[in-house]
Amino acid sequence: MKGTILRQFSYSLLLLVFSICPSTSDIFPGKKHFVRVVNDLEAKRLDVHCYSADDVIDRTLSTKGEQLEFEFRSVVNTYWNCSMNSVVGHVEIEAYISEDPLIDECGGVHCIWNAREDGIYLYRIKHSDYVKKYDWIPKPLRVRSIKRNVRP
Ligand SMILES: *[C@@H]1O[C@H](CO)[C@@H](O)[C@H](O)[C@H]1NC(C)=O
Repeated sequence: MKGTILRQFSYSLLLLVFSICPSTSDIFPGKKHFVRVVNDLEAKRLDVHCYSADDVIDRTLSTKGEQLEFEFRSVVNTYWNCSMNSVVGHVEIEAYISEDPLIDECGGVHCIWNAREDGIYLYRIKHSDYVKKYDWIPKPLRVRSIKRNVRP
């Protein structure tokens, strides 16, 4: 008997909360989303550093086909940027931005990025194809210092 009353009370409390809060996203965190970064480079290491407003993920994808995937709940203003480093160069991408046309291009709750020799591609789930979104910024050529025989 006591349990029933308590349960009824909880239900009314829940209803009250729902009626007060205009949007349930205020109480419940947003929908689950995923970002995946795939190393599609031929025998090259890829260092990935992804960050949002409150999280950081660092990973080394040492071989072709190796990938990193993480999930998060997306609310207003959620973003994930990933900077990538390889012998080809470096680049920083906007891997996820809530309420952005990018999400529609991702085509679902997954944004899948492929790092290739000629740039970073986004996999468009709805079209089953890849579009190039970023070029690598090439590393500056290493200038070898020329040793001279300087005699005193
Ligand atoms: C994310 O990366 C983009 C592209 O490099 C940059 O313009 C933007 O400022 C970055 N956002 C944050 C929050 O660092």
